[in-house]
Amino acid sequence: MNSNNDFKAQMERKVRKIEEILQEYLPKQRGYQSIIMEAMSYSLLAGGKRLRPMLMMETFRLYNGSSKALRPFMAAIEMIHTYSLVHDDLPAMDNDDYRRGRKTTHVVYGEDMGILAGDALLNYAFETAFKAFVTDPEDSLLTGRALTVLGEKAGIYGMIGGQVIDVKETGRSVSKDMLDAIYKLKTSALIEASMMIGAILGGVSEEEVKKVEKIAEYVGKAFQIQDDILDVESTKEVLGKPIHSDEKNDKTTYVTLLGLEEAKKEVERLSDEAIRLLHQLSGENQYLERLLLWLVHRDR
Ligand code: IPE
Ligand code: IPE
Ligand code: MG
Ligand code: MG
Ligand code: MG
Repeated sequence: MNSNNDFKAQMERKVRKIEEILQEYLPKQRGYQSIIMEAMSYSLLAGGKRLRPMLMMETFRLYNGSSKALRPFMAAIEMIHTYSLVHDDLPAMDNDDYRRGRKTTHVVYGEDMGILAGDALLNYAFETAFKAFVTDPEDSLLTGRALTVLGEKAGIYGMIGGQVIDVKETGRSVSKDMLDAIYKLKTSALIEASMMIGAILGGVSEEEVKKVEKIAEYVGKAFQIQDDILDVESTKEVLGKPIHSDEKNDKTTYVTLLGLEEAKKEVERLSDEAIRLLHQLSGENQYLERLLLWLVHRDR
């Protein structure tokens, strides 16, 4: 097997492991409200790339972490990310009807349940992360630090903040500075949380966590620019979501601002910088390096 096939096989194994963790932490479908558990499972267990829990796990492995708190946090970050997609697709936001290779949650369950399924995933993410206090009581200080990062990066100083600016500026001309602020928040923030929580639970210093945050910021920005490129160049079948969503919504993106060629160069530049900084960290994980390269050169 050549190394590319090797990497792909490894990635598939890791995705399966992450999906087992998601299954384990999803709520049982019961009570008069069981429709909401069904909608949560529908959106969460559709075919996503699972990059955020994977980045968390691989950053943790970089530092040979052993805390049992990792698993609930891996499930929590994917729940928060999935809720952000469910809400991002709503008619009031990007109004998209296809996601992760199937109809969006609001199309299948109605707009009311789409909103509530997003709310439910967000709340359940924290219910899940709090379980780390029980699974790993000795490391409650680390769990507390990880929760602080999770809350902040998901909130108004993180992903939600970015979505607010993105939606508010839709249909208007956006400067490069403002676009950078949008990407830093709407996309980098959750990727920063993923890698930082992996590092925190891996037991490293605040200083090292800061370095990890910077790498994740570059990775997140490159990741979002690649998402913009794929919105123009890919197909619905490969992506599992509609193409030309940005054009339909009259969004400013790196592609509309700089053109495809410059946008691609920016992805290259940012990922090179991220890998350079990765080499300066105190641990080593070759799979993580390969993963960072894959996710900025991905086709879906
Ligand atoms: C989509 O994220 C939203 C962006 C931040 C670009 P992903 O591309 O990670 O979506 P899934 O999880 O694989 O569906
Ligand atoms: C979304 O950006 C980022 C989120 C925080 C959900 P996009 O709107 O470009 O993501 P896609 O293309 O719908 O996945
Ligand atoms: Mg959007
Ligand atoms: Mg969208
Ligand atoms: Mg997009």
